Amino acid sequence: MKGKATVLCENSIYSQVGAIAEHGWAVYIETDKGNFLFDTGQGKAIINNALFFKKDLSKIKGIIISHNHIDHTGGLLSVLEQTGNVEIHSHPGLFNDSYIFEGKNYYRYIGIPFREEILKAKGAKFKFNTNFRAIISDMMLSGEIPRKTPFEKGDNRLFIKRKEGYVKDVVVDDQTLILNTDKGLVIILGCSHSGIINILNYIINKTGQTHIHTIIGGTHLGVADNETLDRSIDALKHFDIENIGVSHCTGLKASAKLYQEFGNRFFFCNVGHEIDI
Ligand SMILES: [Fe+2]
Ligand SMILES: [Fe+2]
Repeated sequence: MKGKATVLCENSIYSQVGAIAEHGWAVYIETDKGNFLFDTGQGKAIINNALFFKKDLSKIKGIIISHNHIDHTGGLLSVLEQTGNVEIHSHPGLFNDSYIFEGKNYYRYIGIPFREEILKAKGAKFKFNTNFRAIISDMMLSGEIPRKTPFEKGDNRLFIKRKEGYVKDVVVDDQTLILNTDKGLVIILGCSHSGIINILNYIINKTGQTHIHTIIGGTHLGVADNETLDRSIDALKHFDIENIGVSHCTGLKASAKLYQEFGNRFFFCNVGHEIDI
């Protein structure tokens, strides 16, 4: 597979007057096998930035949603208004009733802000998966990631509301996109709720390939404790990673540490950033 990927939604932006940043994540993927959209941001930036970067949302073959959180799904309805009928590849947990605990008994809803029926009426053709599978040749979606490392403990502020009350949410729906290119794997993370090391180990196990040309996206190291951060960065150094561009929930402290470790191989993957596939 060949092509390029352009970040349409991310938390920060430099020197692009007219495009906007928001807490969210979306990537427009152009390939020799068709164009796809990975995530949709929180909904305020996607249409503006697609126009700004001249990325035609009506010409995509499919939408991939990494997980149900609003900062990845909030733009879905407005994207569907541009696409009409389109396949949406996601985990069936897309409509989970998800919350973040903000203290003092306050749980804030952070799930997808649209009902399934409304999205279907706008043209959404859902293709749900829980296992590793190819969307097209050389473009794979991870499915659920086995949680194996002892140090990746997840985000303990996340809950799902059930009949019995709020229960801990490990975000089982968290998925990563994997592109197979001549230069190696290109890996596009959502938020890495499964742990970035768990994700990379699983991808290498499933693809049998160890060379990662580029990895971009949210690492969720921004909320990791010091032990998780240090051990994750230490483990990352043992992978064969040519370029690492962190985004979104990585945060400035973890980004600075990663820059220290990876030097020229590191970049901030912000709004408008383009990578080769
Ligand atoms: Fe998330
Ligand atoms: Fe996120």
